[in-house]
Amino acid sequence: MNQAETLERIMTHSAEQKKTTNRKQGAVLTSPPRVICVTSGKGGVGKTNIVTNLGFALSKAGKKVLVLDADLNLANVDILLGLTPRYNLHHVFMGEKSLQEVLVQGPAGLLILPASSGIMELAELTEHQRLYFLAEMDALAQEVDIMLIDTAAGINNNVIYFNLAAQERIIILTPEPTSLTDAYALIKVLSGRHDVKRFRILVNLARSEKEALAVFRKLSIVADRFLGSLSLDYLGHIPYDSKLPQAVREQRLVSDLFPDSAASRMFGRLAREISQEEPEVKADGNIKFFWQGLIDL
Ligand SMILES: Nc1ncnc2c1ncn2[C@@H]1O[C@H](COP(=O)(O)OP(=O)(O)O)[C@@H](O)[C@H]1O
Ligand SMILES: [Mg+2]
Repeated sequence: MNQAETLERIMTHSAEQKKTTNRKQGAVLTSPPRVICVTSGKGGVGKTNIVTNLGFALSKAGKKVLVLDADLNLANVDILLGLTPRYNLHHVFMGEKSLQEVLVQGPAGLLILPASSGIMELAELTEHQRLYFLAEMDALAQEVDIMLIDTAAGINNNVIYFNLAAQERIIILTPEPTSLTDAYALIKVLSGRHDVKRFRILVNLARSEKEALAVFRKLSIVADRFLGSLSLDYLGHIPYDSKLPQAVREQRLVSDLFPDSAASRMFGRLAREISQEEPEVKADGNIKFFWQGLIDL
């Protein structure tokens, strides 16, 4: 069986499961998937590790998760997972491959869409290509519970687009002062120019919860004072964990290789919290509208 067939099988199976669960709960339609954008002002703060480990932990918690690698500068979700995707979104747009053939499977059934070199083309698609692509995405969306987006860092158009198109935003901070000022600048642009008012903050590389909360408070104080009505929520922290770079060197996820390490336990805890919360129900936040939004931007 080739990889496409394997994926096809997995997805059909999971779609059946999802339908059965929904039927059991008396619902007729499958629930719309959540789209969560993970971003930061500064680079190298741990976004890719957070997206992939959170995705892994959510998969373990029974969710079907799709990771969209949308970092155009340093697309490295695949490297981190030791995968070598042969195709990406570009091949879908060229009509050479179907979406199913482009998706790669990571540990615990995590799905990865290597998109970086195709994203720029979204704006230049012909009507036919758009319709084909949206239909493919719509079909995939039926099988997915959560889509996590790994963006580039900083304030460039792509980062802004993904933040606007997603339904929820998680901003990664570290205790470094530059990470704070860069995150502030990003939030200022998103809230001031684009009217995005709700952000969740996750502090990475913290030595303790206390330090993480102090970092969060610093950001809230300046945001309150200078940016007006905003909602900044503290999502949690991921501790500095020497097992994490060790896993990176082995091209494995720390949550997979060292499930009992401090960072892995925290990814598990966050995943449980995220999977239990009631997402904001917003029609324009699901995967189909997400892509539609990007194409129309
Ligand atoms: N919680 C952590 N504990 C230890 N090292 C970390 C942690 N998070 C990130 N790192 C280190 O930072 C590096 C960069 O992380 P990465 O996820 O690639 O950042 P980004 O995607 O924001 O550029 C990782 O390769 C790892 O060595
Ligand atoms: Mg990255």
